[in-house]
Amino acid sequence: MSGQPTDIVLSALQQMQANGVRLRASLHTCERLRATSSAAATPTRTAARTTQPVPTSAAPADPRGRSASAPKIEFPTLSETKTGAPAAPVPAPSSSGKAAVLEALRGPVLACTKCPHLVQSRTQVVFGVGNPDAEVMFVGEAPGADEDLVGEPFVGKAGQTLTKMIEAMNFRRADVYIANILKCRPNMPPGEPGNRKPTPAEMNVCKPYLIQQIEIIQPKVIVALGGTAVEGLLGIDNAGITRMRGTWKEFRGIPMMPTFHPAYLLHNQSNTEKRKVWEDMLAVLERLGHEITAKQRGYFLTK
Ligand code: URA
Repeated sequence: MSGQPTDIVLSALQQMQANGVRLRASLHTCERLRATSSAAATPTRTAARTTQPVPTSAAPADPRGRSASAPKIEFPTLSETKTGAPAAPVPAPSSSGKAAVLEALRGPVLACTKCPHLVQSRTQVVFGVGNPDAEVMFVGEAPGADEDLVGEPFVGKAGQTLTKMIEAMNFRRADVYIANILKCRPNMPPGEPGNRKPTPAEMNVCKPYLIQQIEIIQPKVIVALGGTAVEGLLGIDNAGITRMRGTWKEFRGIPMMPTFHPAYLLHNQSNTEKRKVWEDMLAVLERLGHEITAKQRGYFLTK
């Protein structure tokens, strides 16, 4: 077996299948990815010459709307949802073999050097986190400064909002899987704070890793967080997230719900905007056949 990520995953998937695990398109996809990955495009963007200084502040200003001074978002927490809410399901330890396959993919992804300009600027690759048997997979665009430092997606201010959304759905963060299309923090001109949107070229180079994660996890639903995630997943320009959110799409046969990026809610704290995201999450819960309490149905209906 060669050290190529797709070879490692393919071999692990074959092992899973030999052990009786039912796979959907994984083997086929992996074989196709292996055939195409060697031909993966190099990003057209000119490589940055200098290493991006990693800001030490917790949450940088961000063109997408994140900033250190953003007020706290008021999503109901799991403890608030306790009264009358069904108990959060405790996931059984993974017996599907998916955890091992995902781990086999992690090493090669962490060592990826396909985008030299990002290799130069990143602290580390941010692979993804969560339950390999997750029903729901949340997909964001790219790590920010916090994620680059910690090595986990959505750990900054926007991540806190995402965690509250997840808990309001009566999941724990560890029950779902969270990943980004681009696994490295997009580099910034030296000395410039904040984050930039990943380019379509960067997303295209990195997307095969996300596809492999999705093929391994086989979530029942994907939630695409923000317009860039939708554009990256569907390979389209200008998703127009305001129009597209709340309408079911499909990614490789899996139902996909586009919604606003959690960072958007940090700067648009009205119940009207929170309710829009919440209605998208209610649609996800309905699709999964989860029990929804009257209290959950009513979140953000009042001022
Ligand atoms: N925004 C994203 O899209 N992903 C992260 O991991 C953090 C912030």
